[in-house]
Amino acid sequence: MDNILEGLDKRDRRGMEMINFKLKIAEKLEGIVNIDKKELETYIEIPKDSKNGDYSFPCFKLAKELKKAPPIIANEIKEKFNLEKTGLEKLEVIGGFVNFFVDKKILSEEVLKKITLEEEYGRSKVGEGKNIVIDYSAPNIAKPFHIGHLRSTVIGGALSNIYKFLGYNVTGINHLGDYGTQFGKLIEGYKLWGDEYDIDKDPINELTKIYIRINNLCKEDEKVLEECRNNFKKLEEGDPYCVELWERFKSVSLKEFQKVYDLLGSKFESWNGEAFYKDKMQEVIDILEKSGKLTTSQGAKIVDLSDDGIDTPCIIIKSNGSSTYATRDLAAILYRARTYDFDKALYVTSYEQILHFKQIFTVAKYLGLDDKYVKGLKHVSFGMVLLPTGKMSTREGTSIKLEDLLNEAIERAKKVIEQKNPDLENKEETARKVGVGAVIFNDLSNNRVKDEIFDWDTILNFQGETGPYIQYTYVRIKSVLEKANGVPHFKDIDVGNLNDNYSQEVLKLIYNFENILIAVTEKEEPSILSRYLIDLAKAYSSFYNENKIMVEDKQVKDARVILSYATAKVLKEGATLLGMEMPDRM
Ligand code: ARG
Repeated sequence: MDNILEGLDKRDRRGMEMINFKLKIAEKLEGIVNIDKKELETYIEIPKDSKNGDYSFPCFKLAKELKKAPPIIANEIKEKFNLEKTGLEKLEVIGGFVNFFVDKKILSEEVLKKITLEEEYGRSKVGEGKNIVIDYSAPNIAKPFHIGHLRSTVIGGALSNIYKFLGYNVTGINHLGDYGTQFGKLIEGYKLWGDEYDIDKDPINELTKIYIRINNLCKEDEKVLEECRNNFKKLEEGDPYCVELWERFKSVSLKEFQKVYDLLGSKFESWNGEAFYKDKMQEVIDILEKSGKLTTSQGAKIVDLSDDGIDTPCIIIKSNGSSTYATRDLAAILYRARTYDFDKALYVTSYEQILHFKQIFTVAKYLGLDDKYVKGLKHVSFGMVLLPTGKMSTREGTSIKLEDLLNEAIERAKKVIEQKNPDLENKEETARKVGVGAVIFNDLSNNRVKDEIFDWDTILNFQGETGPYIQYTYVRIKSVLEKANGVPHFKDIDVGNLNDNYSQEVLKLIYNFENILIAVTEKEEPSILSRYLIDLAKAYSSFYNENKIMVEDKQVKDARVILSYATAKVLKEGATLLGMEMPDRM
């Protein structure tokens, strides 16, 4: 029974297109008003209230061009519009609007045929031939993987999944913070006190302690600072002792980070961090030098960006001769353009780095790259994570270790499950899916630029707008399907049984799934998908409350069962794209 959702898919895997109602409307309108259908398509709206139809065409958009009042245009359209082969049932004029109503049976048929016959509903090829680079997660070696990195990991991971699902060629890059003068300090600290700390046992914490201690010493003792700079220089020159230590710091840190990635299910195509660019920065400096953009200011080499409207110059070489975070990012842009020939290169970090990306994207204009690449650079910024008591910060000790946070989520989920369903098998496994799913969904449930409040009770509420609510709805549907003894075949269904508003609401949402995914990629905004899943789960709940499923009439029952199946399939696909796992029971 566990395979109810999967079993049906094996019947037929031919790709098929559903009717594109919007396009059909635009095509017919083109014949009437003589304006390009592509333009007309962009004017067509989806009314908030379905009383005003499923699609609406606002005629005022054409008033100027056609030199007529909108209501007159609307009536002309109504007179001349031929409904044949559009999948539409009727159209109505209200003021300057023409409202179109989709034929209910056709909608049901289109959706249910595709979703029951295709292996993965909504998978498409719209992105075929396009390359997307997503730079995300990127924690810093020897420092805690903090809550901001979690958001980056979750947002970047969701975007990566969704782009792939739409046929794009995606390279997810973990641009690790594994380079910079702080490693010279860490090496010095280790030399001095290495044997006082158990780095293998608790690497990040111990390295952080060493780092804080050596930093304090540097402030007091100029000579130590000098030694640290020396270490970094040696590291750059490949000194075996320094390189070996650096590699050790890196490998113990990565082992720690991997625990979080394992819990989240994160995978990257590339792990080229900042150090990867150490021999690739000279080219950036040479190009900028040649272009005349590089100037000297107080001993540092900078690019002045005031002509580009940015007050703060971009520092390329510090006065002490070392390269910067920005220099490495510029080298990475060159490398990525050449290696991945990207159409879009996304950078997922908190909004604290807005200025940094503004600077490097502007400097990128002077690297002699094809304009296509410069245009493809995009900072996908996101807000802070706030505790109900205020901002999380390491300094005030309110910062939570991420692995602990995820484990706490799992523990809390387990408690809820223990209360609701004490006899459940696989409690551990389910608690992991629910706990981690709750954290992931919470990270994605609001517009990404908004600050996010992290409140345990809200994110784990089975009835709220949460990950567990999506999972719970899914699990409920699965049990319906089990009671129904499986899912009927599409061709045995009379879709006329799904004409009621509750069923139609669900069907319309399911019809829209691929458009939702496309909208996510247009705005780099996974919350469009998470909001959609909430809407779908809510619409299904209304359907379920209004329509009894296990009724006498087999035709009615079968139709409702297949609609339930379709809903569960989209909920599962959508949640999986967000990075969640679905439990079978909970
Ligand atoms: N390591 C950086 C940090 O923790 C994020 C790196 C983002 N990616 C980049 N290419 N700059 O803030």
